[in-house]
Parts: sequence; C-alpha cells; structure tokens
Amino acid sequence: MSESAKKTPLSPYIDTRPQHEDLRDLLVDFERMGELVKIDGADSHLELSALAETVTARYPGAEPALLFDNIPGYEKGFRVLSGASNSYKRLAHVFGFPEPRGRMDIVRAYKARMKHKFEMTPPRVVTTGPVLENVWRDDEVDLTKFPAPFVHELDGGRYIGTEDLVVMRHPDTGWVNMGTYRIAVHSKNTVGIWISPGKHGRLIRDKYFSRGEPCPVVISCGQDPILFLCANAEMAEGVSEYDYAGGQRGRPYDVINSELYGLPFPASSEIVLEGEMYPGETQLEGPFGEFMGYYASEASHQPVVHIKRVYFRNNPIITMAIPSRPPSNFTVARAAVKSSMIWDECEKAGLSGIKGVWCHEAGAGRLFNVISIEQKYPGHAKQAGMLAANCQSGAYAGRWVVVVDHDIDPSNIHDVIWAMSTRCDPPNDIDYIRRHWSTPLDPMLFEPPWENNRAVVDACRPWGRLAQFPPVAEASPELQEQVMNKWPHLFQR
Ligand SMILES: Cc1cc2nc3c(=O)[nH]c(=O)nc-3n(C[C@H](O)[C@H](O)[C@H](O)COP(=O)(O)O)c2cc1C
Repeated sequence: MSESAKKTPLSPYIDTRPQHEDLRDLLVDFERMGELVKIDGADSHLELSALAETVTARYPGAEPALLFDNIPGYEKGFRVLSGASNSYKRLAHVFGFPEPRGRMDIVRAYKARMKHKFEMTPPRVVTTGPVLENVWRDDEVDLTKFPAPFVHELDGGRYIGTEDLVVMRHPDTGWVNMGTYRIAVHSKNTVGIWISPGKHGRLIRDKYFSRGEPCPVVISCGQDPILFLCANAEMAEGVSEYDYAGGQRGRPYDVINSELYGLPFPASSEIVLEGEMYPGETQLEGPFGEFMGYYASEASHQPVVHIKRVYFRNNPIITMAIPSRPPSNFTVARAAVKSSMIWDECEKAGLSGIKGVWCHEAGAGRLFNVISIEQKYPGHAKQAGMLAANCQSGAYAGRWVVVVDHDIDPSNIHDVIWAMSTRCDPPNDIDYIRRHWSTPLDPMLFEPPWENNRAVVDACRPWGRLAQFPPVAEASPELQEQVMNKWPHLFQR
C-alpha cells in the first residue's frame, strides 16, 4: 500500500542528532543493524563496481552497504565502501532521524530540522586526528597503492574520488568551498579533476588561473556520509559546506589544516590528497559513465592536480559512489536530501502550503522532481513549479518539475502518473523554461553553451474548478482503517 493510501500523519519533529564520530562508527552500527555486507576478493577493475551496481538495482532503497577487502593486487585492509548511506534505514541513522516508515519520513524529518533546529556550525580546527596515522610527502606519494575502482567498461581510467570532498579556498574572500567532483588517477602523484561549468569549485579555480596563479586543493576520498551529502548539495555561493554539515550534525566537525596550503580537511577522513593545479596544464580525462546514465561527454583536457601530500588512516577506506543508469548507489540518499532542500528553499522563498517534495530516483534524483501543495489561491501551483525548478537546489540540470495536489504522495510514482493523467491538460498546463543551467553530462546537449530546456507540469486540479472536480473513487481513510483492523493478516507482508 502506498504511503498516501495509509494516510500517515506528518512525523512529529524529534530533535535527535547523529551520534557517530566518523565513518568507522557507522560501519559498526550498520553491521549491528544488518545493513553491511563484507566482501573479500572482488577485483577493483570492474568487478566490485559491477557488483555494487547490480545489488543497488535489485534492492533500490534497501540495498546493504558493501565493504570490499582483500582486493587483488592491493594491501589487505585497503578497502572500498559502496552505498554508505544509500538505504532509507541507513540514511535516517546517519542523520540521527527515527527509523523511517518510508522515504517521505526522512524528507519530513530533515525539513523539520531545517525549520526548527538548524544553525550553521563552523568546524573546529585541531592539530591531530586519525587521518594523520600515515603521511606521505613528496616522493613518497604513490596513489597506485590505493584500490581506486575502474568502474565501467567504457571508462577512461581509475577513479579514486567519486564519493569525495574537494575543498578549495576563494583567493579573495577566504570562503572555503567543498564540492563532490570526480577524481581520476593519472599517475603515482597526479590526478585529473572534472568540474562542470558554473560549479563553485570551477569558479574558484578559474579565479586563481585568471591571475596566472596555481590553485591549491585538498581531496578527501573517504569520510562521514553527512559531509559527502552536504558537499554534493547545491549550496548558495559563499556558504561553507563544512558549516552546513556541522549544522546537520548539531556539533562542529574537527578539521586539520593541510601542511602546504592550510586547507581544512576532516580529522577523521580515511584518505586525503593535497596538491595544486597549474594554469594552462591539462591532461586527457575521461570518458566516465555519468549520473544521467550515459557517456554523454567524451574524454577532454582537464586540469591536473599535482599531489604533494597524502594523509590516510590505517586500513583506509575509499568511499565509492558510482554514477550509472539510475538508480545508482548514491541516488536514494541524494534524492532525500535534495527533496528536503527544495522544500526548505521554496518555503523560505515564501511559498505556503507545501506538503512534500520528491526528486525521483529514476530521474537520477535531479531530472524528475515532484512538489505537492495544498492550493490556496489562483496561480499557486504555477508559483510552486517555477520555484521548485529555479531555487538553488533545483536549478542545476533538471528536466521535469511536476506540481501535484496534497492528496498525491509526491514520492509515489503511481500517484504522480495518475495526477498527470487525470488533472493535467497538456497544452495549457505545461510551461517551458528555456536555456537553463545544465552540463555537458546531459545526453540531450551536444555542444556549448550547456543550457537545457525543461518543463513545469501543473498536474493539480484546476484552481477555478475545484468545487466541480469529481470526487475520487476510493475507500475513505476510516473505511480503509476498519477493514485493515478486521483482516490484519492481509497487511502484514
Ligand atoms: C557522486 C557524485 C559525483 C559528482 N561528480 C561531479 C563531478 O565530477 N563534477 C561536477 O561538477 N559535479 C559533480 N557532482 C555534483 C556536485 O557535487 C554538486 O553539484 C555540488 O553542489 C557542487 O558543489 P558546489 O556547489 O560547491 O560547486 C557530483 C555529485 C555526486 C553526488
């Protein structure tokens, strides 16, 4: 039965916070919860990623995290983790929410935290931490010792950074930005980095390059999933994702300033690379199968990071997010965070009556987003659709925004298709936004500028006809409750 059919009330706001210190604590918790499977002997060339992808496709939202060890050709203990927060149960645990009955419970809990209890919490600078258990300097650097996965058959190389944090500091303002950008291993001490046009990391890098200066960077390749989920959320310019992640956690993250450039990295990261990129120096990077499910962009010349320091824990863990035909092994977690953020941003922009948001997994958590509202005035649905498509969290690389009434569960694709099929008059209820912010990763775009067109679909009952709109043919909630209580065995599967 769908969540909406059960008519579950909004989950009350419960001010619980994550208890874990780092990824290692979470692994202990996941094992206890039956949410972790350890796998020995899978090859980092294609095999472990194929296994992770296949398990995700089989059990979307309920797949276990996979911890790979004894990877052929690599030191025992040098591990890879897939899908750290990519089940509803683990995701709720990571954020410190009560166990969810469904995905909308996570969205509601996140949204409630943002409304009632969220404060930006800057990190605390410390001088030591587990990540300093091993430090390689200059000639000691050898990235080939880490089991960086070769993900898909058509990829151009191994990627040590997929579920990662890339940290840069703005040269003028000192703003510390953190984003998730893919990191290819080029050699023992160089990596390639691909950043889409318009991303903060790219704007910062270009600022250095425009002055002919090198751009320093630190890259964490394994860490607490909260940091990852905040790094890949589209925050406003000037916001430090460290502060935001600390706000989610309810206490600051401990960070260590890097030896060469003083860039902060998490004290409990698994592996951190420190280096710099030089203006004008590029190397072929890619191709890489990407999150929309295609190889939409070919290999291209991208900046090279010269790695001069590597900090890592004993028995380090690379966290691996593998973009692929959706849903992939991070889509569920990201969809929940993005849905919550779109809801929060639309509400902060003044939109009333929002009942839920869901960024569907099949749309890679970006391309098919649904917002449900209780209509209160003419044009309300249009305002909701346009805001959801244009707020900071919804703007990048979208395709469809669908607005539905409050009796529709936005996360239930059957409900959504029913609303689109019965409450929408396509010529009148679909608007297009043209030349919006997109990316070379969009398979429908073939050349710059990387701008796409998208649709905002009003699938709400027409405002002027609410009173005339026919009633829904379904058992009332009371009647449903009555029969469920009378024949409970039918509902216990
Ligand atoms: C698993 C994963 C991998 C990503 N890889 C890239 C990437 O290689 N390049 C990129 O520009 N954005 C990538 N993104 C999206 C960015 O992380 C996201 O847009 C983020 O907001 C960028 O940070 P910024 O807003 O500070 O630029 C990725 C997201 C995820 C979830």
